[in-house]
Amino acid sequence: MLRIPLIALTAYTAIFATPAPTQTADLAWLKYPRHPIGTERVHLVHTLGKETLEQSAAEELQRGIDGLPSGKNLNIGNVTTRTTVGTVKEVREAYPSLVVPTDLGPDGYWLHRAYFQNQFQLIVAGVDDRGVLYGSYALLRLIATGTDLTHLNLRSAPAFPIRWVDNWDNPDGSIERGYAGRSIFFEGGNVREDLAPVSEYGRLLASIGINGCNINNVNAAPQLIDSAHLKQIARIADALRPWGVHLAMSVAIASPQTIGGLPTYDPLDPAVKAWWAAKANEIYTLIPDFAGFTIKADSEGQPGPASFGRTPADAANTLGAALAPHGGVVLYRAFVYNHHLDWHDPKADRARAAYDIFHPLDGHFAPNVIVQTKEGPIDFQVREPVSPLFAGLHHTAQAMELQITQEYTGQQRHLVYLAPMWKWVLSTDLRANGQSTTVAQILEGKSFHQPLGGIVGVAGIGRDRWLSSPLALANLYAFGRLAWDPTLAPSAIADEWTRQTISTDPNVVRTVVDMLMQCWPAYEDYTGPLGLQTLTDITGSHYGPNIESSERNGWGQWHDADAQGVGKDRTVATGSGYAGQYAPELAKLYEDPATTPDNLLLFFHHVPYTWKLHNGKTVIQYLYDSHYGGAAQAAQFVKDWATLEGRIDQPLYQDVRARLEYQAGHAIVWRDAVVQYFLKLSGIPDENGRAGHYPGRLEAEDAKLTGYKVVDVTPWEDASAGKAVSCDQPSCTAEWTFSGTPGHYNIAIQYFDLPGGTARFTLSVNNQPAATWAADANLPSTRPNGDNSTRKTIYTIVLSAGDKITIEGTPDAQDPAALDYIELSESPEDFPVI
Ligand code: GCU
Repeated sequence: MLRIPLIALTAYTAIFATPAPTQTADLAWLKYPRHPIGTERVHLVHTLGKETLEQSAAEELQRGIDGLPSGKNLNIGNVTTRTTVGTVKEVREAYPSLVVPTDLGPDGYWLHRAYFQNQFQLIVAGVDDRGVLYGSYALLRLIATGTDLTHLNLRSAPAFPIRWVDNWDNPDGSIERGYAGRSIFFEGGNVREDLAPVSEYGRLLASIGINGCNINNVNAAPQLIDSAHLKQIARIADALRPWGVHLAMSVAIASPQTIGGLPTYDPLDPAVKAWWAAKANEIYTLIPDFAGFTIKADSEGQPGPASFGRTPADAANTLGAALAPHGGVVLYRAFVYNHHLDWHDPKADRARAAYDIFHPLDGHFAPNVIVQTKEGPIDFQVREPVSPLFAGLHHTAQAMELQITQEYTGQQRHLVYLAPMWKWVLSTDLRANGQSTTVAQILEGKSFHQPLGGIVGVAGIGRDRWLSSPLALANLYAFGRLAWDPTLAPSAIADEWTRQTISTDPNVVRTVVDMLMQCWPAYEDYTGPLGLQTLTDITGSHYGPNIESSERNGWGQWHDADAQGVGKDRTVATGSGYAGQYAPELAKLYEDPATTPDNLLLFFHHVPYTWKLHNGKTVIQYLYDSHYGGAAQAAQFVKDWATLEGRIDQPLYQDVRARLEYQAGHAIVWRDAVVQYFLKLSGIPDENGRAGHYPGRLEAEDAKLTGYKVVDVTPWEDASAGKAVSCDQPSCTAEWTFSGTPGHYNIAIQYFDLPGGTARFTLSVNNQPAATWAADANLPSTRPNGDNSTRKTIYTIVLSAGDKITIEGTPDAQDPAALDYIELSESPEDFPVI
């Protein structure tokens, strides 16, 4: 039993009663408190080596074990009072009689319980110092998840050498596609003074086995590699180094010209090559363990080698040659495409671009160049087929790029646990050469014998509690766990994350894991089923619904919806030919709509709305059903979470509950937008009578309006019947007369919560205020639309015939208190009365 003397507890309370620093790893899954200096340490962690990483490992283990509430649930007190950490070599020397495994892979470890010096000891043996660190975190994970350590004998090594996070941070402190506050690295053009959060980030990354961290946006600010900035950036590398995390940077391919003053950035120009070599030398003088460069070129306006008639291989190899003497690598992104495509041309297809450009270059890349490909051929959509390029490069090192930050998947306001998607991608069999060739096998180097593969996750972490949403942190955690071991089940990862982060109570664990496992399918159902990608505003926020934003422009995310049918024809026979980029078995499968899986049908085929899916439904009926089903599932998450009240930390409960309620309301916005759009376009009614029929809904434009003016919402599908009311006076009212059956009702108010002001709303019945609230969320878009359409529900209001229901809106600054509708539903007795 671990005993903490009273004096230690007192010291602990005194120290941690003061507010904790705002950005610590404890906010995520490393939940053990830091040990107050000077208090007695009960369990001894003994380190055999003097390397920094071994010291970090020992300190972290001691900290974790000290932080245990008691030994009684967590076994460690019963199995040992001493832990020894060291490299395999050190452990062998210290304990010659111990049979230490000889064949652990790089960065691997061995955890063992052994009897020595009259006591049981836990041994953490790492292949190298990084293995020691990873092994120590693995041991902490076992302890925190309540694993029995009595017969501990565990060995593990990562599947991939490249396990990186990419941070798309800008020097001014903003973050491209970040939804969790400002950068932990930069502010005002420079590296921040306070790098304590960077060190905490390093701890988090090390705990899940991440070994590389790119710190800046792929749309790279060239000045970050000038001499002044590099000196600052060396401080970031210093903060990450104790955690075995190597710093990498995105660089603009035009840098030799923009900051180097050369007349060209042609990658084959000798002066350009020399410039890059000198720049690499400078970087390694300051950051000896610099990991490498990430390149976005000839993509979305970024300059690239195409300007000089050069290929990506020419550019990548020039940078590779500069880094090679120092052991650095180049991650060259395959996200190269023309965003001025001609949508009239059936052969034009953005999905084809990566394969068309990079496949012919296979074998031309230097050994330290890795082609980094997004998991799907478009852009982090809720569902895409797996990129055919993975199976198209047999002589090139490859990494897969995943997105942890939820750009197209709800921006952390919606609960979307992405591990099931990533797992689906990793285990997709691309059938290269007619053999089993899963994406994981390719990246592991098993299929094509490329030793330098891996996974890169676009993290999006910021100063607001890492990812802002507490449950979104499961994605960062799962990313690291899958990058270490792609055979892990997403549910098992969710289970261990929940135990470390929220509670080990079996009911809590079951509820949270079930929610996590159901939320990606639900999001897919209400935003973009059947391979429609995500029907969001692709030219704007990437958040709310805007179906036509992907049609008839050069961006190539078309779904070709018309009155007869929907879907992009990517067949070889009649479409863009994209299906032919897959190996023959898959190409054949995707060429025929009858054999294409339902969840990818509309990515590959244009079919009539009456096309019968494998599940027997027509496409149009499935579109209706999935949107209603997905929105119902989002509402169910609120109820599921409500069962946890009192069982988990109350602030966490409240925070997540508010987010889930918001999500349930926004899922209705999505549902109604997509359903009314396709109802109007197809003219085919919903067999179940829901589409276009909204019982209990009272439109704002039909109310008796005082001050409010009727406005058209763009896109029209984002508002009920396409219209809303907006107020340009100090306050406005909308009034309806109740004519239903007397009783208790819930009243949902659908309003638009615009940024740039905090409008207020009051719901009154017969002039008696029943509720008042502020439109104070931080949502995208400056016009009322599906980005900011928000639902507030007031429960159990008593109504009788003739009652006047009024909403008073008070605009503030840029927020005109716009209103879409109210919706009355008979109040269920059980849930939720607030
Ligand atoms: C998406 C994203 C951009 C990003 C780009 C990329 O298109 O919206 O912000 O720059 O991907 O991956 O390069």
